[in-house]
Amino acid sequence: MQKVMARPLADVEVLDVDRQSSGDHELDRVLGGGVVPGGVVLLGGEPGIGKSTLMLQAVLQMAVKMDRVLYVGGEESPEQVRMRAERLGTVPPNLYILPETNVQEVLKELEENRPGAVIVDSVQTLFIGHITKEGSLAGPKVLEHMVDVVLQFEGERHHAYRMLRAIKNRFGTTAELGLYEMQGNGLIAVEHPSHALLGQKIGEDGLSGTAIAAAIEGVRPMLVEVQSLVSTAVYGTPQRSGTGFDLRRLNMLLAVLEKRCGFKLASKDVFLNMAGGLRIQDPALDLAVVAAILSSALDIPLPWGTVFAGEVGLTGEIRPVPRLGQRVSEASRLGMKRMFHSAHARNIQIPEGSNMELVAITQVSDLHGKLF
Ligand code: TYD
Ligand code: MG
Repeated sequence: MQKVMARPLADVEVLDVDRQSSGDHELDRVLGGGVVPGGVVLLGGEPGIGKSTLMLQAVLQMAVKMDRVLYVGGEESPEQVRMRAERLGTVPPNLYILPETNVQEVLKELEENRPGAVIVDSVQTLFIGHITKEGSLAGPKVLEHMVDVVLQFEGERHHAYRMLRAIKNRFGTTAELGLYEMQGNGLIAVEHPSHALLGQKIGEDGLSGTAIAAAIEGVRPMLVEVQSLVSTAVYGTPQRSGTGFDLRRLNMLLAVLEKRCGFKLASKDVFLNMAGGLRIQDPALDLAVVAAILSSALDIPLPWGTVFAGEVGLTGEIRPVPRLGQRVSEASRLGMKRMFHSAHARNIQIPEGSNMELVAITQVSDLHGKLF
């Protein structure tokens, strides 16, 4: 056997990764520009969120460009898959289905017929791997280490919006994000997330308890409407619940409001909702959450055109958030007028042509004074 020698990394040839489009722009974007031949992608997400739909849609498109594609389905019958495929598009003659759960049989099929792409739905029918109650991938971690790309499909089952993120990607960044809307004929790309995630009509004052955050998820700026309801707790222990927002973070923000603004929230129920039901992870959402809670507690609506972008620290300080200029651009594009942000922000680059009024604040207690 030939001995493997260490060699200068600089001498290693850079290979041009030959990517192929999956036929789905959102999926291509999250993958880093397309499917890499020979690569293995693991897709996770809660039951019923739309994983099979997404994969079937992709494979219908891929079949157009390949000689043969294979769908190994151990979960649904070929008849069920055919029925779903009919709803999603035209079923091409070179798309094959193999209802098999035995790995040896699947490998035999791959060797004999060498398909250009294979979808296995799902991996737990072949190996052990499943989803925890929180929706993250469970089972042996080795599965995540073995594959090249791990994707996560998220959303609230009762909402139509879905978010596709890369948790790991050997062929590209994990910052890209795909957005879809589940419709009667499958998953449709959402081109303008802000339109989707703003609950209120553009140009109209909101109701009390709503505030708009200028968020960035992955690399995409988007305006997200935060809704909050603060009411007197009827039963002993006050309820706190958040849809699309981390409950621990909500409790932390409530504690900060109590301590730094003197707001008595200990005996109040607090409910929080993100319009569209998507779980936005950007910490810049904090300021909008606090504003929504104040607005609901005081029952005073915020004037149309106000947006928020700031992280709230434990001492109540407003921390700067990255890429403020991009947030201002997106907010301006949607006709917003005023942005509350951290007074500690440096080198703010306001995009040309924007008339956004920037209101810098240092503490959550300032927010109350400047808003109402
Ligand atoms: P599915 O892809 O089976 O979810 P998963 O594989 O993640 O468990 O589909 C989830 C839901 O999507 C299903 O309950 C029905 C709905 N759906 C639509 O609304 N429109 C469609 O075109 C399809 C195919 C499914
Ligand atoms: Mg499925």
